[in-house]
Amino acid sequence: MKVFAVFGTRPEAVKMCPLVLELKKHKEIECLVCLTGQHREMLSQVMETFGIKADYNLDIMRNRQTLTTVTTDILERLEPVLYREMPNVVLVHGDTTTSYAAALAAFYRQIPVGHVEAGLRSGDIYSPFPEEMNRLMTDRIATYHYAPTEQNRRNLLSEGIAGNIYVTGNTVIDAFSYTVKKNYIFQNAKLKHVSFWKRRIVLVTAHRRENLGQPLISICQGIKRLSREYPDVDFVYPVHLNPAVREAVYAVIDNIPNIFLTEPLNVPDMHNLISRCYLIMTDSGGLQEEAPAFGKPVLVLRTETERPEAVTAGTVKVVGVDEAAIYQEAKKLLDNPDAYRQMAQAINPYGDGHASERIAEALLALK
Ligand code: UD1
Ligand code: UDP
Repeated sequence: MKVFAVFGTRPEAVKMCPLVLELKKHKEIECLVCLTGQHREMLSQVMETFGIKADYNLDIMRNRQTLTTVTTDILERLEPVLYREMPNVVLVHGDTTTSYAAALAAFYRQIPVGHVEAGLRSGDIYSPFPEEMNRLMTDRIATYHYAPTEQNRRNLLSEGIAGNIYVTGNTVIDAFSYTVKKNYIFQNAKLKHVSFWKRRIVLVTAHRRENLGQPLISICQGIKRLSREYPDVDFVYPVHLNPAVREAVYAVIDNIPNIFLTEPLNVPDMHNLISRCYLIMTDSGGLQEEAPAFGKPVLVLRTETERPEAVTAGTVKVVGVDEAAIYQEAKKLLDNPDAYRQMAQAINPYGDGHASERIAEALLALK
């Protein structure tokens, strides 16, 4: 069976690499990897971590790329590759434009698609944008749905997607076995200066398209206010390479002694930072899944989430992008040990670290 895994951004790579390594263990499966290259540096960081060499790289990234060019470049460049390889299954992941365009390209060649991380829904097609529509359309195209949780399965059933749903857990938990180490030494130079044992660390990330512009500035202003009020707390913010993100972040919170702005961290640095920090403030999807496993409270810098499991469990709270709300919610967790303890529970609704094996089993059963 020839399985063709197509992915192109950092979060897809973090979650697909453990699966690729699992599939490569099975001699009945020939697993090929095709990168779209929607991301470049941030993608190669992850590939290096997992030691995976891609069979193809469509290399589509452009500076300040648009959704249209990402979509059309993938469709055009993937078609001849699929024609040459004619795999039995194309695997895509999650909700990026790579996921949707690759699924569509496979559909045009009538190749069945397996969707890893199927069934997540925010219920608003404009938030996150364009991810909610990307995953809706990818699930519609896919023949096989690998849903991380029961809730994700129910979402699919409610849309009339009935067959071939496998509840597997999220492969992001599988990734920890490659990245998280007890006596880990950070590789990023700035992290070497962070006193994890003396000071509380707040980890911040933000990059979502709907937050670009004023919402991101408001987020940064909230962080700035917190950094002034809490000189005993360090804020670590690995800044996404999107120029629109960098311009806003560096304009508002550069050169503040207790704010460490870093380049994107490699995955081992990031996962070990999550495991050691005090609190996370983020608009990332992946961090909402990773943090609960380490008992780290997450304040979500968005107005919704497609990951309600951790909200129900009490470790994730949606706070929006308003400066005052961000400041107040973080203040609560920094000042009130009881409020902190209530959120800092090591709860992991996203699986037992064996999601990749379940997906491999499901694929092998198709033979
Ligand atoms: C993309 C995904 C988003 C995901 C995010 C993870 C879409 C529409 N968006 O958003 O769902 O949450 O990745 O990070 O699929 N850039 C670089 N080097 C890199 C990566 C990006 O320079 O390695 C810059 C480029 O100028 C690029 C820009 O960032 O044009 C935006 O990249 P893009 O993939 O379009 O959007 P993201 O915000 O990264
Ligand atoms: N990540 C990383 N380095 C960073 C920021 C994030 O390795 O500097 C990892 C993070 O741990 C998670 C994934 O990248 O596994 C999430 O990516 P991102 O936030 O860019 O995308 P999203 O999950 O929001 O789609």
